[in-house]
Amino acid sequence: PLIDRLFNAGETEVKLARKLGIDRTIIVPGNADLQDRVYEEMGEQLNSALNLLLPLGHSIITVLGGIDVAKSASYLSKQLGNNRQLEFVPGRGALGENVTTQSNTIVQEMAAKTLGTYKTLYLPEQVSEVAYRSLIRENSISSVLQDISQSDAVIHGIGLAQEMAKRRGYDSIRLSELRDKKAVTECFGCFFDDTGKIVERITQVGLQFENLKKIPHIFALACGSRKADAIKAYMPNAPHQTWLITDEGASNAILKEK
Ligand code: G3H
Repeated sequence: PLIDRLFNAGETEVKLARKLGIDRTIIVPGNADLQDRVYEEMGEQLNSALNLLLPLGHSIITVLGGIDVAKSASYLSKQLGNNRQLEFVPGRGALGENVTTQSNTIVQEMAAKTLGTYKTLYLPEQVSEVAYRSLIRENSISSVLQDISQSDAVIHGIGLAQEMAKRRGYDSIRLSELRDKKAVTECFGCFFDDTGKIVERITQVGLQFENLKKIPHIFALACGSRKADAIKAYMPNAPHQTWLITDEGASNAILKEK
């Protein structure tokens, strides 16, 4: 049964968690680069992990965006919401480009599946410093930011630096600057190089990377062998309580490297 799997990590899962310096990894069969069904299992594993770790009663879950989180979201279950009041809040504003992978959309899906509630943050993802300082004083926004800071759990993806920069509208000059800085991965608006150093950062309204470590439960969803280097580059920065939910495609590639 699934619950046994969660308590008893497999040998490869333990090895991967040690290599990445985090508490737990869950590896589902397959490679998302080739098989879309991987997302179904990732979503089910996320559901079981939340069920195992979240107390009964009220919980706030902050959700970031991206394809891996969006595609897993619909596998949360009604049963997860039994005796729980789950509140889903977006961890960042909207990314202009695709509505299906925005935090605002994913929180609605997760709330619908678990019969929970959600809040929205209808803002551009990137804002100027000046706009940021005045926006966070707006009541509707500060109430969401307050909830984010009191989250019981966070669910986030791990992006490829170039892909995320393009999604955020970087032009070719900024893309090549980012390449020069050797950015490999992006999470929470921070671009990291392969030593885990932040080499560039976007001002965004929402969950700030520095505040992540205070959140009791963190779930990183990233899959497919194409994500292997991104996962490896981000993980030295991940708080230890992070659980990585991934697939064999990514995990085999990470474990193969020295
Ligand atoms: O910030 C990380 C990204 O949201 C991950 O996006 O799952 O589409 O690669 P992705």
